[in-house]
Amino acid sequence: MILAIETSCDDSAVALLDMDGTVITSKISSQIRLHEKYGGIVPELASRQHLTTLPILLRHVMKEHSVNISDLKAVAVTYAPGLIGSLLVGVSYAKSISWIAGVPLIPVDHLEGHLLAPFLDHPDLSFPYLALIASGGHTHLIVAKGFGEYQLLGKTIDDAAGEAYDKVAKMLGFKYPGGPVIEKIAAECTQPTIQFPIPLKGKKTLNFSFSGLKTAVRNEIIKRDLYVEKKELISYNSFQKWPEDKKKNSLRDVVGSFQKVMTQIVTQRFQEAFKQTDIKNIAITGGVAANTGIKQGLKELAVKRKKKFYFPDTQNCTDNAAMIGYTALQYFNQGDFSENNFLRLNAASKSPIGQMEVKITQT
Ligand code: KG4
Ligand code: ZN
Repeated sequence: MILAIETSCDDSAVALLDMDGTVITSKISSQIRLHEKYGGIVPELASRQHLTTLPILLRHVMKEHSVNISDLKAVAVTYAPGLIGSLLVGVSYAKSISWIAGVPLIPVDHLEGHLLAPFLDHPDLSFPYLALIASGGHTHLIVAKGFGEYQLLGKTIDDAAGEAYDKVAKMLGFKYPGGPVIEKIAAECTQPTIQFPIPLKGKKTLNFSFSGLKTAVRNEIIKRDLYVEKKELISYNSFQKWPEDKKKNSLRDVVGSFQKVMTQIVTQRFQEAFKQTDIKNIAITGGVAANTGIKQGLKELAVKRKKKFYFPDTQNCTDNAAMIGYTALQYFNQGDFSENNFLRLNAASKSPIGQMEVKITQT
């Protein structure tokens, strides 16, 4: 079996997979409690927390499945992109285990993990597919042609999609992560009344932009006297306890309208991409892929355009180690890893996929 470790951001994650890709277990220890009050991740706190959480989680997983170090055939680890301190903890740990076990260490690009994550729940998915990776740090529209064969069609030129959710939530006084809170409140708004501007509308590009939208939402929040500055951030549960009044409905309207425009942005980009490629399989992956509104928009689009739409189960959308193990296995099975060089492996805040440039001419 293969052991996979993921610590690129705020989640310590460990998974065990059989060599055929079957996930034996995938466990996550979330640091949300530690960071939520700050409205975002505090990198220094994240790396320190990994240092204590990761060994405990690992021991728990190995014990629960009666796994010994000698049972491992390989160790997979996210080496990039992410918070460098957090990555260093995972890489150091994985390096030590692979050294002691005498098995290869397979470094994985976190974004490739997200890109291949739909396979975890949909073994019927086949290449090529058009996928949007939408997470807290990245928004990449990619054609996956085969393992390791990726073409970037568009990416964000400023904020990431998840970042937009987090920032809007924070302006309204909600804790990190913003996506799940926004999703729940948006579900309470049946008739959103605001049409926020769709960034890059009418431009012949498959890129994304969210910073102008964020400003438009901010202005609306200020206009409605809903802006929260440096107050203690609250959870969705606290919001539920608010009295049913004009303010609560006004906030629901802003959130519902924001959710609506995010769905419009994503579906319009896919529609635009269909002009460049007639690929039949489409997918969304990464933390934002957990969003029901966006998935519903894409489901409807897929039916209309006769595409097959794939998305990972919620636990495989957000950061997890199963996707890292699955990705590593593809390389392991091809014999594509350097057994002798693994001691030199370093962490990196940027990755090859994260830095890909759009190569095709936009039409
Ligand atoms: O992939 P991920 O777990 O970590 C990164 O690689 O960044 O994504 C985290 C991001 C956060 O910005 C979070 O607010 C967003 O995914 N997210 C969501 C939802 N669940 C998580 N965004 C929208 N709707 C959700 N249900
Ligand atoms: Zn991620």
